[in-house]
Amino acid sequence: MSKGELSHWLMSQRSDFRPSRELDLGFIATNTKTIAIASGKGGVGKTTASLMLAKQLVNSGKKVLLIDCDYNLSNTAVKLGLPLNDNFYSLLSMEKSFSECLHKDGNLHLLSGCNGNSDLFDKSFEHDRFIIDVISEHGNEYDFILLDCPAGIGKETVNLAAYADHRFMIVNPDRSSITDTYALIKILKQKYSVSENHLVVNRVSSQTQYLRVVKSLMDTVSTFLEGQLRVLGPVKFMNTPVDEFDRGLRGAEKNSLHKYFSKIVHKFTDESTGLFENVLNSDFKPSVEQEVQPTL
Ligand SMILES: Nc1ncnc2c1ncn2[C@@H]1O[C@H](COP(=O)(O)OP(=O)(O)O)[C@@H](O)[C@H]1O
Ligand SMILES: [Mg+2]
Repeated sequence: MSKGELSHWLMSQRSDFRPSRELDLGFIATNTKTIAIASGKGGVGKTTASLMLAKQLVNSGKKVLLIDCDYNLSNTAVKLGLPLNDNFYSLLSMEKSFSECLHKDGNLHLLSGCNGNSDLFDKSFEHDRFIIDVISEHGNEYDFILLDCPAGIGKETVNLAAYADHRFMIVNPDRSSITDTYALIKILKQKYSVSENHLVVNRVSSQTQYLRVVKSLMDTVSTFLEGQLRVLGPVKFMNTPVDEFDRGLRGAEKNSLHKYFSKIVHKFTDESTGLFENVLNSDFKPSVEQEVQPTL
């Protein structure tokens, strides 16, 4: 498929796609929102954010499908303390139905990936297309579909991010994370004309640090890509042992991590209803003359 054809196909799969006027008759609008949780860099908190956002959305009365798009290095089930499974492969090879492949916890449905499944490794398939097909077929059963994206800027990951209605970029306050996120935003803009993304800064130690990261990325994105970053907020660095941190993800009790993600979800929801005020967007003036790596 040529670049132009792929791009057209991808965009035609989006929920906001409108075919030409003559073909519009059979079009059924869907209210399902798809959000890709992405970053470029690994280990910055995408899976943590995906799980926390899913829980917050469910708590606010929404029905959520979380898809682990890291289809053969899946972490979502591990973090939830669930047994590993090969359901992703079973769905792909049509051995089980979609419903049988889900882990269901009330209104939170999880399609986890496999973990080093060698049949899946051998199988040649485009996971972006497969996941988009799954969403096309079952997406309208949900209010939100969250895509926990793999690290990197592989074509299929970028395609999934471009396909989504929204992209939450998870960034850490270190240069490599900021640089990788900028690279992802740049590819999305240059290949798919995606110019709007959301930003969550995870593992933040201070307000000053948070503002510096936000300013750095926003300046660079607006100056060189003419893009917009809608800032959803910080998540504090939790200085807790890893096993305790992971227990917090599984538990229903509210710890401070839940509070940060609750604020993020509220801000995002307010934005959809027009209440969102992106104060940072208007206050910062671009300060760099030419394209440079974002700096802290
Ligand atoms: N706000 C935070 N404070 C402290 N540790 C965090 C925070 N967010 C994530 N982590 C830890 O960082 C590691 C990577 O997180 P993860 O969500 O798996 O990242 P990714 O999915 O981007 O690879 C995990 O060990 C997780 O416990
Ligand atoms: Mg992950």
